[in-house]
Amino acid sequence: MKVDVLLGLQWGDEGKGKVVDVLTPHYDIITRFQGGPNAGHTLEFNNVKHVLRSIPSGIFHEDKINVIGNGVVLDPITFKEEIDALQNKGYDLRQRLLISKKAHLILPTHRILDAASEAAKGATKIGSTLKGIGPTYMDKTGRNGVRVGDILHNFDEKYKALKEKHLKMLSMYNFEFNIEEFEKGFMEGIETIRSFQLIDSENKLNNLRKTGKKILAEGAQGTLLDIDFGSYPFVTSSNTVCAGACIGMGIAPTNIGEVFGIFKAYCTRVGSGPFPTELDNEVGEAIRTVGHEFGAVTGRTRRCGWLDLVALKYAVTINGVTQLIMTKADVLSQFENIKICTAYKINGEITNEFPYELPENLEPVYMDLPGWHCDLTGLKSEDEFPEELNNYIDFLEEQLEVPITIVSVGPDRDQTIVRE
Ligand code: GTP
Repeated sequence: MKVDVLLGLQWGDEGKGKVVDVLTPHYDIITRFQGGPNAGHTLEFNNVKHVLRSIPSGIFHEDKINVIGNGVVLDPITFKEEIDALQNKGYDLRQRLLISKKAHLILPTHRILDAASEAAKGATKIGSTLKGIGPTYMDKTGRNGVRVGDILHNFDEKYKALKEKHLKMLSMYNFEFNIEEFEKGFMEGIETIRSFQLIDSENKLNNLRKTGKKILAEGAQGTLLDIDFGSYPFVTSSNTVCAGACIGMGIAPTNIGEVFGIFKAYCTRVGSGPFPTELDNEVGEAIRTVGHEFGAVTGRTRRCGWLDLVALKYAVTINGVTQLIMTKADVLSQFENIKICTAYKINGEITNEFPYELPENLEPVYMDLPGWHCDLTGLKSEDEFPEELNNYIDFLEEQLEVPITIVSVGPDRDQTIVRE
């Protein structure tokens, strides 16, 4: 049985959490493969909103297994908070959640290093979420990291050695910090992690796959934040693209099946970095207000803009997307006309290729499509789609050469339309 992958095609926050939750009934196992608690997957059902940070979005389905894969970096403090919050809501997770021994741990000093390094960058800061994710991945590739599996062996020794190393590094910054503030919570979090099944997830996942179990891999952030292919250096520290799913789970490329690429009917971006179609005006403000474009965890304002087809085509290609999922079409109901960026003009030259860098003088080339101007949030089937929405979908499918199989018209599980 092949493993399907669902990932974001833009700058994150495309609505992956909601769609994974909707698709979960078709799968046996849901796996996270990269990133850390910088993700904030929001799910809504029965009028309750849940935000997940490191736990896969299949967790609300009793009979499913959820796996935190080796590619994830896990923060014991936020992990414990997440577990406690879910347990308080009555969810018993011990049998449903497995953690890879090869996932790396975010130490309190990783968080401090993240804050110290970002503060030292001043005006050139990259907009880090300050969760210690970058420094943890640096220790992973630098071969210094402490892994979840170390909790079962010589954890204290490894923890102290890395902490000492970090403290020496921190002495180079003029940065005040209080490690005790985090350390108590960290050690409690380690005990919480210890109480779960810590596994060799690559073996488990491949064994389950071979016995016919269906696995869905859930991405975090988005393709344009990928460490290799995103708008470097304004990117995240992991590979968010489909190839990252192979690495972050130990699944061979030949065993990947469907690649679901998810995108909003417009674009948003959090933090610093280039954003060609950004609308720094009342149109952007209107999208932000209606789309509630504020960070799920940080509350940070999301920058808003029109759909960028140049970037989207690039993302579809890099990921080998086989099915597209469009979310938040309902947010655009307010506009008479809807713009789509079909090319970039750079130094007077028109290009359809996503360039090495997105320069400040880049001018998006837009085409206008008529808006649908009606409330989509109550729609139940594709037959009820207004003509203008069908035209918008047809145009995107023609340009991207991949079918849009799901259209989401609201945050709730029920507001999801599968196209035949
Ligand atoms: P990251 O991995 O952090 O990038 O998160 P994500 O892709 O899971 O997205 P996130 O949950 O942060 O943001 C999506 C937001 O849009 C959430 O508040 C969802 O409830 C909401 N949402 C998802 N689909 C739709 C939709 O079709 N319409 C509307 N109006 N809201 C939606």
